[in-house]
Amino acid sequence: MVKISLIVIALAALISQIQCQTNLAEQLTISDLKTYNKWRSSYRRVFLNEDEETYRQLVFFENLQKLKTHEKNTEATYTVSLNQFSDYSQEEFVQRILNKHISRSDADIQKEQEPNGNLRKAVNYPTSVDWRNSGALNPIQNQGQCGSCAAFGTAGVLESFYYLKSKQLLKFSEQQLLDCARQAGFDTYGCDGAWQQEYFKYAIKYGIVQGSSYPYVGYQTTCKNTSNLSKYFPQSFKFINPNASDVKAAISQGPISVTVDASTWSSYSGGIFNGCNSNIQLNHAVIAVGYDTQGNYIIRNHWGTGWGEKGYMRLSANNNCGVLTSVIQVLS
Ligand SMILES: *[C@@H]1O[C@H](CO)[C@@H](O)[C@H](O)[C@H]1NC(C)=O
Ligand SMILES: *[C@@H]1O[C@H](CO)[C@@H](O)[C@H](O)[C@H]1NC(C)=O
Ligand SMILES: *[C@@H]1O[C@H](CO)[C@@H](O)[C@H](O)[C@H]1NC(C)=O
Repeated sequence: MVKISLIVIALAALISQIQCQTNLAEQLTISDLKTYNKWRSSYRRVFLNEDEETYRQLVFFENLQKLKTHEKNTEATYTVSLNQFSDYSQEEFVQRILNKHISRSDADIQKEQEPNGNLRKAVNYPTSVDWRNSGALNPIQNQGQCGSCAAFGTAGVLESFYYLKSKQLLKFSEQQLLDCARQAGFDTYGCDGAWQQEYFKYAIKYGIVQGSSYPYVGYQTTCKNTSNLSKYFPQSFKFINPNASDVKAAISQGPISVTVDASTWSSYSGGIFNGCNSNIQLNHAVIAVGYDTQGNYIIRNHWGTGWGEKGYMRLSANNNCGVLTSVIQVLS
C-alpha cells in the first residue's frame, strides 16, 4: 500500500512538473513509443497497475530525453544507453540500488581508517594494469534490486586474492555476508547497504563459504547454519592512503575494494566516465581491477553485463567519484 501511494504522489508531482514544462509530452514521437515498447519487452517489465505503468512510462521518457541530450554533446568522453534502470527516477535509483547506510563524513572515514595503523603507501608500479583477462575474476554478476554492493565488492576482492595466492578461482557467497554479518553484530544493513570493511571483518572472524552452497537470492534472509560448510578465512586487510600513486600500487598487486559516489552512473554504457557529482557522497562499493596509462581506473561493477563495458567502467583519473577515499586491500 505504502509503495502504491508513493507512486501515485510521485506521479502527480511528475505530471504537474510536465504540465509546467509542457514540452516533454509534445516532444514524444512514434519512435520514442517504439523504443519504450521494445525496451519494456526486453526487460520484461510487469506493473502493479495502470498508475504505476503510466508513471514508469513518464520516467522512461524523461530519461530518454536525457540520453538524447547527452548524445548531442560532442565533447562527452563517455556514452549512455537504455538499461535496467531506465524507468527509475534519479532519486529512486539512489534509494533502491545504492547504499542508504554508508553516508559517513570524511572525518568519520578517517577515524575508522586510523585504528588500522599507518595507511599503506606506494611501492613501484607499472604504467598500466588490467586484471580483466588474468583468470582472477569471475563472470560479472547482478546484485538486482538490493543495495548489496558491499557484499559483492568484498566477495569479489576475496575471490581475486584467493586466486592470486592459490591459482584456484572460487566463487564466494555474497548472500552469507548479507544474511549473517548483521546477526553477528557487524554494522551492516542487508539490502540497505554496508561499508565493505564490516564484511571483511566478518569474513576474517567467521569465514566465507562458497556461493554454490549459499547462493544469492537478492534479498536478506535468515542466516543459514554454515557450520558444516567449508570456509575461507582471510586474515587481514588494510586501508590504502588516499593518493593515486598509492592506490595504483595496490591495484598492481591485485583487485582492490573501493567506494564511490555512483549517483550519476545509471545509464553509463562506455568510454571514460567523468560525470561524477561535484558534491561527493560515497554510496556504492565496487572493485578497482586496473588503470590505464592516463591513470583512468578500470572498475568492476555488479549491475550485469548489460551495463557499461560488459559490466565494467573506465573512470576518469581526475573526475573520479571519490574512488580514492575509502580503499581496502586484502593483505593475507
Ligand atoms: C549449526 O549446526 C551444527 C551442526 O549440525 C550444530 O552443532 C550447531 O549448534 C548449529 N548452530 C546453530 C546456531 O544452530
Ligand atoms: C552437519 O553434518 C552432520 C554430520 O554429517 C549432520 O548430522 C548435521 O545434520 C549437519 N548439520 C547441518 C546444519 O547441516
Ligand atoms: C602521493 O604520494 C606520492 C609519494 O608517495 C607523492 O609524491 C605525491 O605528491 C602524492 N600525491 C598526492 C596527490 O598527494
